Amino acid sequence: MNTYFSFLKSSSCLCLGESISISGTRYVVVERLGEGGFSVIDLVENTSSRKRYALKRITLYSLDDQNFALKEVRIGEQIDHPNVIKIVDYMLLGKADIITNKSSQLLIVLPYYKNGTVHDQIVMRAKHKTFMSESEVLQMFMGICEGVKALHEAKPEPLAHRDLKTANICLTETMDPVILDLGSCTEARVQINGQTEAQRLQDEASEKCSMVYRAPELFSVQSYCTIDERTDIWSLGCVLYAICFFKNPFDNAYEKGDSVALAVLSGKVNIPEDSPYSQDMHELILFMLRLNPMERPYIYSVMERTQECINKIENRV
Ligand SMILES: Nc1ncnc2c1ncn2[C@@H]1O[C@H](COP(=O)(O)OP(=O)(O)O)[C@@H](O)[C@H]1O
Ligand SMILES: [Mg+2]
Repeated sequence: MNTYFSFLKSSSCLCLGESISISGTRYVVVERLGEGGFSVIDLVENTSSRKRYALKRITLYSLDDQNFALKEVRIGEQIDHPNVIKIVDYMLLGKADIITNKSSQLLIVLPYYKNGTVHDQIVMRAKHKTFMSESEVLQMFMGICEGVKALHEAKPEPLAHRDLKTANICLTETMDPVILDLGSCTEARVQINGQTEAQRLQDEASEKCSMVYRAPELFSVQSYCTIDERTDIWSLGCVLYAICFFKNPFDNAYEKGDSVALAVLSGKVNIPEDSPYSQDMHELILFMLRLNPMERPYIYSVMERTQECINKIENRV
């Protein structure tokens, strides 16, 4: 059995204590951190430095998949910003071939964030309905915006993340947010010319953008339209809502089995009656959740408004 096949065989269970070498550095698996549809994330330890990392392994079934997944690495290497995850190292194992039914694996070594994700933090706070203070919420949100801005300002083309959600934002030791999962990142601005292109984008969005965070224009893509980075602003509105109220604004529809698409396209967002936050905070959320993407702000206006809210609080104290 060649090394590629023996790796794939063992990698279906790269279990606790097993090790793998990437660019000459050996890592041993310590524990499982997360599991997605096509990827597995393990906590690993560099056997010589003893430093810990997160190892993301993505299984790929075709050359298209492979090229797409390598984008996650390319964008991670391209964007150098403290609020966007860095790629420590990577390795592609094997060559996917849909005809001969061969899969490959992309292994990406990432910095490890032991505080987990914003989602994990929300789940913990939700147990006792422990609200964050308005100032803490705004500071964390501003960090997320800084990361989003780095993507939206990417050269030569602005990038959109397209899957911003609380589970895709880790927290550093100082609780600064770091955007991860760059696999869904893509050129932000797309011109749609005709039904076929519209359907293609809609299918791509339903595969890559989590439903309750998905912008309305991606649920039913018009045949002739322009989509831009403001899809992310919609998701950011949902992220800020979830940080404040422990839930995404469309989780209720999802949990009841109602149509999330209809809930999103209705344009109705309920601010909980027991909200401890100011009217400014509520308006900031609704500012991002504008149905019409052309009326939705760019990241700069969101940050300006967030800063105004921060200034108001600081002047009050
Ligand atoms: N660097 C990391 N440090 C700590 N936990 C991580 C890290 N990267 C991913 N995770 C955990 O694994 C989960 C899935 O990772 P992600 O990159 O979003 O993969 P997927 O593409 O499968 O969604 C995250 O929601 C988080 O819980
Ligand atoms: Mg993810």
